[in-house]
Amino acid sequence: MCGIVGYIGHREAYPIIIKGLKRLEYRGYDSAGIALYDGTDIKLSKTKGKVADLEKRLEKEISTTGTLGIGHTRWATHGVPNDVNSHPHYSNSGDLVIIHNGIIENYESLKKELIKRGYTFKSDTDTEVLVNLIEDVKKNENTKLGKAVQIALNQVVGAYAIAVFDKNKPNEIVVARLGSPLAIGIGEDEFFIASDASPFIEYTKNAIYLEDEEMAIVRRHKGIKIRKIKDDSLVAPYIQELQLNLEQIEKGGYEHFMLKEIYEQPSAILDTFRGRLLSNEAIIKMVGVEDNMKKFLNANRIIIVACGTSWHAGLVAEYIFEDLARIPVEVEYASEFRYRNPIINENDVVIAISQSGETADTLAAIKLAKSKGAFVFGVCNVVGSSIARETHAGAYTHAGPEIGVASTKAFTTQITVLTLIALRLARAKGTISSSDYRMHLLELELIPEKVKTALESDAYVKTVAAIYKDAKNFLYLGRGYNFPVALEGALKLKEISYIHAEGYPAAEMKHGPIALIDENMPIVVIATKKGHYEKVVSNIQEIKSRSGKIIGIVTVGDEQVKNLADHVIEVPETIESLTPLLTTIPLQLLSYHIALMLGKNVDQPRNLAKAVTVE
Ligand code: F6R
Repeated sequence: MCGIVGYIGHREAYPIIIKGLKRLEYRGYDSAGIALYDGTDIKLSKTKGKVADLEKRLEKEISTTGTLGIGHTRWATHGVPNDVNSHPHYSNSGDLVIIHNGIIENYESLKKELIKRGYTFKSDTDTEVLVNLIEDVKKNENTKLGKAVQIALNQVVGAYAIAVFDKNKPNEIVVARLGSPLAIGIGEDEFFIASDASPFIEYTKNAIYLEDEEMAIVRRHKGIKIRKIKDDSLVAPYIQELQLNLEQIEKGGYEHFMLKEIYEQPSAILDTFRGRLLSNEAIIKMVGVEDNMKKFLNANRIIIVACGTSWHAGLVAEYIFEDLARIPVEVEYASEFRYRNPIINENDVVIAISQSGETADTLAAIKLAKSKGAFVFGVCNVVGSSIARETHAGAYTHAGPEIGVASTKAFTTQITVLTLIALRLARAKGTISSSDYRMHLLELELIPEKVKTALESDAYVKTVAAIYKDAKNFLYLGRGYNFPVALEGALKLKEISYIHAEGYPAAEMKHGPIALIDENMPIVVIATKKGHYEKVVSNIQEIKSRSGKIIGIVTVGDEQVKNLADHVIEVPETIESLTPLLTTIPLQLLSYHIALMLGKNVDQPRNLAKAVTVE
């Protein structure tokens, strides 16, 4: 997965593209490159490493003038991250240059054909094959670039968002999309191209999001023409007004996006239930749910599909839906679900959870569920994303842009949305009493303030982090609603500090992991008062008698765990179903501080990308 940026207009393209690439580094950051048209020729520079490395090198290598250009930040799929495999890629003649996000699955057979016809390749990438295929079509069919791109893409199997230009026609960029996002920002006598709107937000609020199987010819003076790649039919452009603002995508005084996003959770949760939870009238209003109430109420079961942190939010939702709305729930890794011929039909409701709305496996799981007749509801953060558009209905988490690769506010806002849905369905089904229902609404309203209180543990969490930062392994334990939080805590630590960590249901510890416990093993135990408190306390005793180091996440004022644990981190009291929204906070902070103390790149951990648009 990668980020792409392009510009054609009256300004210097270089600063726009470089800044845009930095904003898209969440999509990949193992190499970066840029190609500019300087009025006579293409100037290209690319390198392994981050956009900042490109910047350092580029100004020494090439002239950075020109009002047309494309840039790329890469997360390698075909070919190791190195200078040669970085994008942009030239065609053999040097006339065409391309950037690509996605995978061309049949590139090997296309490459063989092109080699037979005399083409040579410098890189191991599928992208270099694509640009030469376009060149080959252009020559053989004697067509313009747009037509050549269209013919070439009809021979391609896979996923792509591409931008390509021809140095002999430096007044246009041709773009196309299938399975990877592509937005076109529309300014006055200028156009911006990007994987999302963040690179051009300060220049224009008007954007077109290409749909799958669409391509556009973007001409500086003549505007945009959109066509269907398959049948060449013209598509009327749908221009959206962007809601994003610059402040939302900048660090706002925090050292890292991850920390900013952890601290944004009180407002993100509030924004997520604002206007949906009307506690005075005891009403939950969610258009996507109301419009499809029959489908939800008649469902035999709910199947949740998601990946990573979103899958953990799905596990929390399983408890909430079954507990409150008494609907059977299955939670599936999208990547497993899509390949195992699942039994699913029109009586099932599928809920797909995804921050980015672009995760390839989740998208494929949705398509499979739809093909079997299921009703599919999306819970996404990125407005207008592929999953938001592919689902029958949905509810956005209003978390705002999440840029740190490790998901934080997306998780808590997903749980917020799912809680609202479960409560609304419970009310409609009559599985919750009106007093219990009201109590839940009131408690949910208090959560943003309680998250703020939980954040006050930050300084103490940092001292705990300093003690355990050199541990080689961590265990995270929780029960009931907090079992998924244990999984999430372990994932956060793994992904940004590279310390091995495992999450377990606390009682399951006896069936294996207990063998790992000794004085070198820190064990984070979520032991809030509501839930299976006494049972978890017994688990803590079992750990203590094997000399494990215990970090307890406890309800404020707890004494029992305090007497047993090496450290306790307090969170405010709330009802059991909402405890994940609070217990998650210190775990996010713990992983943040440990990673920082170990000198890791918190916002851009190695090997990861923010949106995983490949399988
Ligand atoms: C972990 C993390 C990933 C994502 C996963 C799904 O911090 O960010 O595990 O949760 O890649 O991504 P989305 O939610 O965008 O579908």
